[in-house]
Amino acid sequence: MKGKVEAIIGAQWGDEGKGRVVDSLGDRVDVFARYQGGANAGHTVIVEGKKHVFHLLPSGMLYSGKTCVIGNGVVLDPEQLLNELSELQGKGEDRSRLVISGSAHVVMPYHKKLDQAQEASRDQGSKIGTTGRGIGPCYVDKYNRCGIRVEDLLDPEALREKLESNLDEKNLLFTKIYDEAPLSFDEIYRQALSWGKSLEPYVDDASLVINEALNNGQTVLLEGAQGTLLDVDHGTYPMVTSSSPTSAGGCVGLGVAPQYVEKVYGVVKAYLTRVGEGPFPSEDKGDTGQYLRDKGGEYGATTGRPRKCGWLDMVALRYAVRINGMTHITLTKLDVLTGLREVKVCVAYRSNGEDRTEFNGNIRYLNGVEPVYRSFQGWDEDISSVRDFDDLPDAARAYVRYIEEETGVPVSIIGVGPERDQMIVRDL
Ligand code: GDP
Ligand code: IMO
Ligand code: MG
Repeated sequence: MKGKVEAIIGAQWGDEGKGRVVDSLGDRVDVFARYQGGANAGHTVIVEGKKHVFHLLPSGMLYSGKTCVIGNGVVLDPEQLLNELSELQGKGEDRSRLVISGSAHVVMPYHKKLDQAQEASRDQGSKIGTTGRGIGPCYVDKYNRCGIRVEDLLDPEALREKLESNLDEKNLLFTKIYDEAPLSFDEIYRQALSWGKSLEPYVDDASLVINEALNNGQTVLLEGAQGTLLDVDHGTYPMVTSSSPTSAGGCVGLGVAPQYVEKVYGVVKAYLTRVGEGPFPSEDKGDTGQYLRDKGGEYGATTGRPRKCGWLDMVALRYAVRINGMTHITLTKLDVLTGLREVKVCVAYRSNGEDRTEFNGNIRYLNGVEPVYRSFQGWDEDISSVRDFDDLPDAARAYVRYIEEETGVPVSIIGVGPERDQMIVRDL
């Protein structure tokens, strides 16, 4: 029997809780696979009080006897990856077999420096608020067909040639445009060769590994990074990341065919957050936003920046359902809403006296819209130990049912706390 692919996708602006959902579903998975993004991601997993933050490693690394794959679509920062690995090894928690695609592009030191220099040179209104992890410049080189791939780190001659031409160009940019010091070839070359030696045991044909697993009837879980509204095509361009976090990106970023994808779980936070710049119509800049930030611990797992907080946006969520072909919703952090007298949901965008319910990612439009809210009754009961949907307070159940009705997608998992088992599982 053929195996199947299930995808865990961020439905909003990232940080929905994808890492913890991947970890919580880990028992039923054989292969965990990252398909895009890089160390801009920060996926927090809490198991028995111990906190792990994954940036490049898939969040399945804590499971014994499973395979974790970093696919061709990821941009891999070897320094970050090796640090993450040795930290996990130090804790004795590196339990999965790790496979890294030789075709994944490498984030080089000049990508990070360029990312930071470009961001610093942007005017206030056009800053993206990137994580500074070199993501954009690395994808630029990939699509410009001059990038360095993991396989190049294992080939000293190819590496020398590619690094020379890349660095010549980047150093011109640093010295002539950004008024920055040039980087040294020798230093980076030496560093890159040593990365190659450290990574070599893990490098393999990731697409083949996944497809063999599927041929053996296994279950492959795709772990999205970032979220739908940060997608380079479908998000709030240019305030986006440089990859395709949406479900279709999973096939391209791993070399797995679309017909295997049986389920697409959209991870939806029960309210909404955004980190970095860009429009956020349902942001609450007042006390409730601060309440959500404090209670939800809404500070970036990668950069530590405070996340902007606000209300669930149904206009954007219905769009994310469409773009991803979402078959299930995983609603996280419902417990964070406990204690609010009123829970609001943005149901339309008002602009020039007209209400629209279809999403449009144009930032000039989004910056000018007024959110139209529907109000729900809040609840006070502590729900963090609830494991059965019927045991939730009436008001919380009404909120969940509303989301299902509006999206037409079942809410099959509900997060009531950050621990692995703090979930209500209704139907997988
Ligand atoms: P990711 O990038 O999508 O993996 O999400 P992050 O890890 O950046 O942010 C999600 C945060 O919410 C983490 O600190 C998680 O531990 C936490 N979290 C996830 N699910 C829940 C939940 O259901 N309830 C609570 N209270 N916290 C959660
Ligand atoms: P996870 O996987 C939230 C945001 C940045 C910035 C924009 C571009 O943890 O959900 P980049 O460094 O990618 O060029 O920055 O995207 N961003 C994220 N926001 N969660 C993330 O990842 C993010 N990764 C990037 O803040 O606005
Ligand atoms: Mg995150």
